[in-house]
Amino acid sequence: MSSSPVKLIIDTDPGIDDAMAIFYAALAKDIELVGLTSIFGNVTVEKATRNCLRLVEMARQPHVEVAQGAIKPLGQPAVPPSAHVHGEEGFGDIPALDPKGKALEQDAADFLIKMSKQHERELVVCTIGPITNIAEALRRDPGFAKRVKQIVVMGGAFHADGNITTHAEANVYHDPHALAEVEASGAPLLMVGLDVTDRVQFSAQDYAELAEAAPVLGSFLQKAGDFYLDFYVKETGVALAGLHDPSAVIACTHPELFTLANGPFEVILDGEEKGRTKPKEATGGPVHYVVDGNLDAIKAQFIKVFQDHGF
Ligand code: BDR
Ligand code: CA
Repeated sequence: MSSSPVKLIIDTDPGIDDAMAIFYAALAKDIELVGLTSIFGNVTVEKATRNCLRLVEMARQPHVEVAQGAIKPLGQPAVPPSAHVHGEEGFGDIPALDPKGKALEQDAADFLIKMSKQHERELVVCTIGPITNIAEALRRDPGFAKRVKQIVVMGGAFHADGNITTHAEANVYHDPHALAEVEASGAPLLMVGLDVTDRVQFSAQDYAELAEAAPVLGSFLQKAGDFYLDFYVKETGVALAGLHDPSAVIACTHPELFTLANGPFEVILDGEEKGRTKPKEATGGPVHYVVDGNLDAIKAQFIKVFQDHGF
């Protein structure tokens, strides 16, 4: 493998599995992390920004720029943050710590537009929270859709059940209008939804392996992961957590680990099925979504990066 690393911006609401995904991206040699944009979701947007800054500092990448994103969804009142899943401050029981750095003056949508011009057709944007910032960038500059190489989205449940309601995956449920706008924009979209991410399951043993491989970053994730596993025990009766956000970041550089379907989908905007992602009859076009994957290989890829490059 001698191609240059993928230039990546992660749009995120950290969040325990967000932290896992961001550390993975910071360590992986086939990724150049060029920025983080924050969004409400697991925590408020202010806490998300603070957590983004803290994570890049922990990952020894304080040069990675952080831009703050939207405070609320486009077309509905905000859903309260998911403190019962990720903790009050975002990382389980780990207390808040103020970062040294500051976010940019520019907001997330303007930063995304600027970076799409600077790295035209090279920039991959991976969203691992509600997709509001991307919809906002497209409203301000529809050309954004054609300048990005790909938008990889952790979100949706195409043939699988939802996780926040029976029908909806959490990131989509937090802002379904935003996803509907992005889907219709003509941007090259890869949806990495619960059909795969819920089946890539992380155990206490896996967290222990991370901590052993990477005493600083892995131990932090293991501590946060205790809280995440407790949530899954309450929810499902089993101490196994879906590797949601890391799977989406892995799909940016390892699409061969996933089975894709191609075609447009509808986002249900209200009512009982709000947030559902429903494939349309048609095929073709710029939208793909994962329907299956090599589950063991996705998890192994995640752990390997910590073993090879972690600290
Ligand atoms: C998604 O929702 C959040 O709780 C996780 O961080 C992930 O992005 C999974 O549905
Ligand atoms: Ca997330």
